[in-house]
Amino acid sequence: MKLIRRCLVWGALLSTAFGGLLLLLVGQFVDFGTPSLDLLPLDSTELAEDTLNLPLRKFEWQIQTPHPLQLKYPYPYPFLLNHPDKCEGPRGSPFLLMLVMTQPQDVGRRQAIRETWGNETLELGVIIRHLFVLGLPPPLFTKELHELLQEEDREHGDLLQVGFLDTYHNLTLKVLMGLEWMAQYCPDARYVLKVDSDVFLNPSFLVQQVLQPNGPPRPDFITGYIYRGKGPIRNPDHKWYMPPELYLQDIYPPYCGGPGYVLSGSLALRILALAQSLKVISLEDVFVGLCLQQLGVKPTPPPPGSFLVFRIAYEHCVYHQLALVHGFQPQELLQIWQDFQTANKICPMA
Ligand SMILES: *[C@@H]1O[C@H](CO)[C@@H](O)[C@H](O)[C@H]1NC(C)=O
Ligand SMILES: *[C@@H]1O[C@H](CO)[C@@H](O)[C@H](O)[C@H]1NC(C)=O
Repeated sequence: MKLIRRCLVWGALLSTAFGGLLLLLVGQFVDFGTPSLDLLPLDSTELAEDTLNLPLRKFEWQIQTPHPLQLKYPYPYPFLLNHPDKCEGPRGSPFLLMLVMTQPQDVGRRQAIRETWGNETLELGVIIRHLFVLGLPPPLFTKELHELLQEEDREHGDLLQVGFLDTYHNLTLKVLMGLEWMAQYCPDARYVLKVDSDVFLNPSFLVQQVLQPNGPPRPDFITGYIYRGKGPIRNPDHKWYMPPELYLQDIYPPYCGGPGYVLSGSLALRILALAQSLKVISLEDVFVGLCLQQLGVKPTPPPPGSFLVFRIAYEHCVYHQLALVHGFQPQELLQIWQDFQTANKICPMA
């Protein structure tokens, strides 16, 4: 059964890959219309216009070079530090795979996470695995950091370094390569958490209240802080700038905020398969939202107020009733963790 599923997944991935190749080859000779991220189907009048504009469109296509915010994907980025057997073990595949986005130099952040919410033995009864996903440091620092990272990895065995330049705008590559790792080495994980390294996470609430290990399987499940009705920022100086060439519409489809969202393993694989044939943009959470729209999947609202993209003051009982809070420095995590872990505090029933 496991083998069959694995074959199916690989079949799907390979066929998209080959499909993409075919499209590329055929694309040399045929024009498919505007290569934009317009994901909605064109209506018939637009289609008619499209046919009339064919020669012009073809010309545009030829002179076009990709926008710098369009990321190079799919592309065979290598796994430079890897743990192929991370998900193997006598108890089977993990219930939750945490893909934690960090930068190469974030040694302190990673250590704080290992000692707090990244600790895989916290939630008894379910198997949790974490991997820190990182890219390459700027060329000047490559040599120095390489040895440090190797040493860190020897000690903890939890780094997944991928061979692309680790920049803010390449974050989507980090997420997609994390999912590629999952497809290859951990395809049966029930849930995948994409999480940034500057958050507080409450694994117990996440597992028991949000994911519910004894609940029915939810193949289309994704939750987090849901943004609705947000539109692209058109100021080129802004961190979240979206050029019209890459996304023309005024509104993004609903998406789960980047600091942390959790989705079923099967949905993660479908997003990955779809990403092979889309323009990959640098806003990773928006990109996942665009994939969801294409797949016809709506984000599931989490328990009210359980994913926070803005920091609220730490209070033991409040924090026990939520899954994730964005905006924590490593020292702050370490400071509150001991109190958070104290079991004998009495909280009012939620
Ligand atoms: C993880 O938690 C266990 C007990 O729950 C503890 O013994 C262990 O030291 C912790 N690991 C780290 C890296 O802090
Ligand atoms: C992303 O990584 C690639 C491969 O290392 C690099 O060539 C490119 O400049 C990076 N892109 C951005 C936007 O940082």
